[in-house]
Amino acid sequence: MAKIFSGIQPTGTITLGNYLGAIRQFIELQNDHEGLFCIVDQHAITVPQDRLELRKNIRNLAAIYLAAGLNPNKSTLFIQSEVPAHAQLGWIMQCNSYIGELERMTQFKDKSEGKDAVSAALLTYPPLMAADILLYGTELVPVGEDQKQHLELTRDLATRFNNKYGPVFVIPEVQIPKVGARIRSLQDPNKKMSKSDPNQKATITVLDPENLMTKKIKSAVTDSEGIVKYDLTNKLGVSNLLDIYSLVSGKSIASIEAEYDGRGYGDFKSGLAEVLVNHFKPLQEKYNHYINSTELDDILDEGAERANKVASKILRKVENAVGLGRKR
Ligand code: AMP
Ligand code: TRP
Repeated sequence: MAKIFSGIQPTGTITLGNYLGAIRQFIELQNDHEGLFCIVDQHAITVPQDRLELRKNIRNLAAIYLAAGLNPNKSTLFIQSEVPAHAQLGWIMQCNSYIGELERMTQFKDKSEGKDAVSAALLTYPPLMAADILLYGTELVPVGEDQKQHLELTRDLATRFNNKYGPVFVIPEVQIPKVGARIRSLQDPNKKMSKSDPNQKATITVLDPENLMTKKIKSAVTDSEGIVKYDLTNKLGVSNLLDIYSLVSGKSIASIEAEYDGRGYGDFKSGLAEVLVNHFKPLQEKYNHYINSTELDDILDEGAERANKVASKILRKVENAVGLGRKR
């Protein structure tokens, strides 16, 4: 079975973007792949975090992964900082990265723009991400569109390392969903829906209560035409809502357009809100079960143990290849 690895930062509640772009794929892939799913808390601290919030978000994210259908008997769920090999290999990958290539990353440019003080780790974030992936012999990395550039760099770093030190790493492929790879902000469809958006109306989170979800959909930016039609050039807002509707309901865009033909945005938004609320109700119930259970900690303990076993073996190979420490 091919190995897949992916990570999500515990920096806020999971949005519809994370869910449709990433988590949904993980759940589908886990049936015929060996899956490792990570809560990347070390990536989260590249920007300031409140320690209590961070701890809470780590647990929340674990519960959301499980509530969304991650099966701990099939897949490994763990916290990055509980597997020391990530930071250790991250350092080695940094030593084989160039400042220039890291400065070219669009996520670095976006996150550092206009800031007086930017941590060094915001720049060296991608070599740590490469380490996450390479530690497990990962063959496939399911992510949303925004991570494509980081994955290309991971492949470059792995290839460079293999050329310099011998064939240690598997070169991973990226998998980006055809639809849902870039869910847009509900308030500014030119931007991606993001956990860190200060405008709360711009994002829907998978834990939003029914009335809030409905309210956010009702206030989503559309246009003045009143026609439910997919058109990425002129109707970005409506097209984004159609993508969401289609992905969550399983209906085709064409059939949704036909269903709302001549009915206007009010009806369309009510329909979409209903579909979302019904879809996330079972997830929210399961979340409430996991978040207050000791089962969650058992799953994370076991996940860290399994991940540690695999990761420490590859780390040792890397250290031997580079000549660190003494031969083991
Ligand atoms: P992050 O929230 O940055 O940790 O992202 C976790 C995962 O969600 C990554 O695979 C991202 O590519 C994906 N993702 C984040 N935002 C979106 C979005 N608006 N649309 C689709 N996928 C997304
Ligand atoms: N950088 C990713 C994001 O912001 C999170 C991440 C960290 C990740 N390590 C990873 C994703 C390894 C895939 C594989 O979304």
